[in-house]
Amino acid sequence: AAKMKDEDKLYKREGILYSTILSPPQTLDKLKELEAREDDLILVAYPKCGFNWMVAVLRKILNASTGKNEKPPERPPMVEFLPPDVQEKLAEMPPRRLLGTHLHPDNIPPSFFTKKPKILVVFRNPKDTLVSYYHFMNKNPVLPSAEPWDKFFSDFMAGEVAWGSYFDHALAWEKRLDDPNVMIVTYEELKQNLPEGVKKISEFFSLPLTDEQVSSIAGESTFSAMLENSQKSHGNFGSIFFRKGEVGDWKNHFSDAQSKQMDELFQAKLAGTKLGARLKY
Ligand code: A3P
Repeated sequence: AAKMKDEDKLYKREGILYSTILSPPQTLDKLKELEAREDDLILVAYPKCGFNWMVAVLRKILNASTGKNEKPPERPPMVEFLPPDVQEKLAEMPPRRLLGTHLHPDNIPPSFFTKKPKILVVFRNPKDTLVSYYHFMNKNPVLPSAEPWDKFFSDFMAGEVAWGSYFDHALAWEKRLDDPNVMIVTYEELKQNLPEGVKKISEFFSLPLTDEQVSSIAGESTFSAMLENSQKSHGNFGSIFFRKGEVGDWKNHFSDAQSKQMDELFQAKLAGTKLGARLKY
C-alpha cells in the first residue's frame, strides 16, 4: 500500500468509490452470494460513525451472554474486506456470527435482508464524521491522503469518498428505520448514555445481560478504556482507529462558511427525517 500512488488507491464501481486493495471487484462480486443466517449479528456503519466501538460492544455482549468468552478473530468482521476464498469459509463459522459492513444498503449481500438477521446500524452526525474521516485517511496507508482539508470537505459533501455519500447512506437507512429487524443507534446517544445503549443492543439481539454485566461492559467500552486496550485489540492500527472520541470536534476544523454549507445540505436532505432529528451536532 505504501508504494501505491494515491490516485490508484480508490476505484469507482457503479458510481461509488472503493479501496482497490481491500475491496477489489472480485471480492464485491462474490459478496452477492454471501448467505446470511437468521441468528447472525449484522453491524452496519458508514465509515467513521463508530464501527469499531460497536464491534467491541457486540463481542463483549456475546461473551457475557453466552458465557463462551471467545477470542476476537484476527480480521475485523468487515465482509467487503474478505477475499472470495475467505468468504466461502464463513459457512463453516459456528453461530452466532458477527458480520459487519460499511456498504450502502443497496449493495450489502441481498440475503442480509431476505434471511432477516437482526441488523444494528450506527450513525453519527455528519460534521464529526467528516472530521474523523479526514484524519483517518491521512493516517491510513490504504487510503489516499485527504489533504488539503478544503478539498476533502468538498469531496465528502459530494459523496466522492470511499463507500460513497454519507447522505445517501443515511437516507437509505431512514427508509428502513421501522423494519423490525433493523435498529439504529447514534454515536451521540451512545456517548450520552452508554449503559442504556448496551442494554438496548443486547435486548435487540436477544442476548440478555444482568445489570452488572451491562455496567461492566459499558465501563470497558468508554473511549479511554478502549484507547488503553487498543495496542492489544488493534496492534499498530490502534492510534488510527481511536483518535479523540468526542462529539463536537468539528468546531476545531470547519470554517464558518463550511459549517453553513453543511447545515444547508443537512437541512435539505435529512433535517425533516426521524433519523436526522437524532443526529445532533
Ligand atoms: P474520532 O476520529 O472522532 O476520534 P470507526 O470505528 O467507524 O472507524 O469510527 C472511528 C471513530 O469512533 C473515531 O472518532 C474514534 O475515536 C471513535 N471511537 C472509537 N471507539 C470509541 C469509543 N469507545 N467511544 C467513543 N468514540 C469511539
